[in-house]
Amino acid sequence: MSEQFDAATHFDENLAAKYDRRIRSFCPSYDSLHRMIAPWLQGLPEHTCFLSAGAGTGAEVLTLGKQFPSWRFVAVDVSIDMLDACRSRAHEWGMVDRVTFFNGRLQDYKSTIQFDAASSIFVSHFIEDRREKSEYFRSIAASLRPGGSFILADLFGDKNSPEFARLFSAWLTSYASHGASPEELSRAREHIERDVAFVPEIELIALLAEAGFSTPIRFYQTYLFGGWLVTKS
Ligand SMILES: C[S@@+](CC[C@H](N)C(=O)[O-])C[C@H]1O[C@@H](n2cnc3c(N)ncnc32)[C@H](O)[C@@H]1O
Repeated sequence: MSEQFDAATHFDENLAAKYDRRIRSFCPSYDSLHRMIAPWLQGLPEHTCFLSAGAGTGAEVLTLGKQFPSWRFVAVDVSIDMLDACRSRAHEWGMVDRVTFFNGRLQDYKSTIQFDAASSIFVSHFIEDRREKSEYFRSIAASLRPGGSFILADLFGDKNSPEFARLFSAWLTSYASHGASPEELSRAREHIERDVAFVPEIELIALLAEAGFSTPIRFYQTYLFGGWLVTKS
């Protein structure tokens, strides 16, 4: 994996324009994953404040915002192009007044409020350095109230395990079946091998525990994508 991966550069205007189509071929259960988040968040206060870390083009903000019309959101993203796409979609969906936007790294976002819940979907697998990954999770924990819920979804896995190669190969076959050309397929393989910092689930849970999260529940898996609910202690 490259030490130079820079999310702000990678998720540029060009990728932001293609992201919503491409991610659905890349992760065939992308919409299901986002629909599977809300059931874990039932019963939160009427005026819940929700932190979307690595908000991208706004999937979490829009899905949850539609389902919970009295919630407010903070969308944080290091890429201005992704955040701009999020802003215009929130505008189209008539909910831009309920969203505050912060362009920068989540680790640099200093919250003035304590959030009731937060998500980080397909973000932290890009952080290679263990200390930096830990800092990322700690920053989310620091923004949440005790008892707050955190939904994490990431690529994960033990590269040395027998399952890993089979899951990786089945995943690429799935991507090809969603219309990816041989060039796209080879670019995807290169991107994954170079830019994604896979960690085994046990290590991910340890990082979350160090950051102050407990009671992990894995509620989702598609190939090498996993999703967990954890609680701020
Ligand atoms: C694969 S996209 C996921 C977007 C969205 N969560 C979704 O489910 O579609 C990852 C996003 O995380 C952002 N990102 C990566 N590292 C970040 C960081 N440290 N702080 C804030 N945003 C980050 C990228 O710019 C990109 O928009």
